[in-house]
Amino acid sequence: MPFANHKKALITGASAGLGREFTLQIARQGTDVVLVARRLDKLKELAEQVRSFGVSAETIACDLEKPAERARLRALIESTGVDLLINNAGFGKIGRFSEISLEHHLGQVELNIKALVELTHYAVPVMKQKGFGTIVNIASTASFIAIPNFAVYAASKKFVRDFTEALAFELKGTGVRACAVCPGPTETEFFEVAGNADKLKLGMMKCDVAVAEALEGIARGDVRIVLGASNKALAAASRVIPDKLGMSIVAMLTKT
Ligand SMILES: NC(=O)c1ccc[n+]([C@@H]2O[C@H](COP(=O)([O-])OP(=O)(O)OC[C@H]3O[C@@H](n4cnc5c(N)ncnc54)[C@H](OP(=O)(O)O)[C@@H]3O)[C@@H](O)[C@H]2O)c1
Repeated sequence: MPFANHKKALITGASAGLGREFTLQIARQGTDVVLVARRLDKLKELAEQVRSFGVSAETIACDLEKPAERARLRALIESTGVDLLINNAGFGKIGRFSEISLEHHLGQVELNIKALVELTHYAVPVMKQKGFGTIVNIASTASFIAIPNFAVYAASKKFVRDFTEALAFELKGTGVRACAVCPGPTETEFFEVAGNADKLKLGMMKCDVAVAEALEGIARGDVRIVLGASNKALAAASRVIPDKLGMSIVAMLTKT
């Protein structure tokens, strides 16, 4: 029961994909959940399902790209005993930088980076005061290499991984942990939003398998959790392959 000691989890992007699966697997282990995303109907459906596991489930419709909306989460995080924060909501857009709208680029920065930093900043002091808590930030294998045709997304995930690993270091000895989960291509709605990327979809992981592996890593106390054997190999290879060669390979995979 790795999460039995966490009483309440807040999961962003819980309406689909990895966030939905995190919710199911955590709630099954007895942790209460607060579910955040834009699609309230999906959140309510999920909340009803997890209540049947005997936990409480709250839903909050919130567009995390909008600073005024996400600021509403501050009081909740600071006052209601959230001791597991899963910053999972995120999206990417595949295509050449100049051919993707500025709105989409800045949306990725708002959601993948700014919202994640903001919610973490609300949660960490409260957790430190209690001497207990876990921050889980969802990065990606895209964090290991600059990716042409996925430039802003990959850079945003590198930010998430570097930020989280540095935070984990700072938090040593406080009782609070931070970890960066790095999935590779996984069966979710991600590529419906990201756009055409058939070559990236080869060897996609099942969502439930990915989340189970992530939870094992979190329970072990790992700081960097790369999911799946082939993704681990890719992350290791990125340390030895010259950047230009790596970029040429991934540019072929992301070419639309
Ligand atoms: N699937 C992959 O291949 C893969 C690989 C590596 C990393 N990741 C990362 O894993 C995380 C989860 O993605 P996923 O694969 O599960 O994708 P997904 O199925 O598309 O789910 C994305 C979730 O984020 C929420 N979201 C999107 N924009 C939002 C906003 N503005 N405000 C609040 N919530 C928002 C969505 O809910 P609403 O639409 O209801 O708001 C949805 O619940 C992301 O950070 C992604 O970058 C995914």
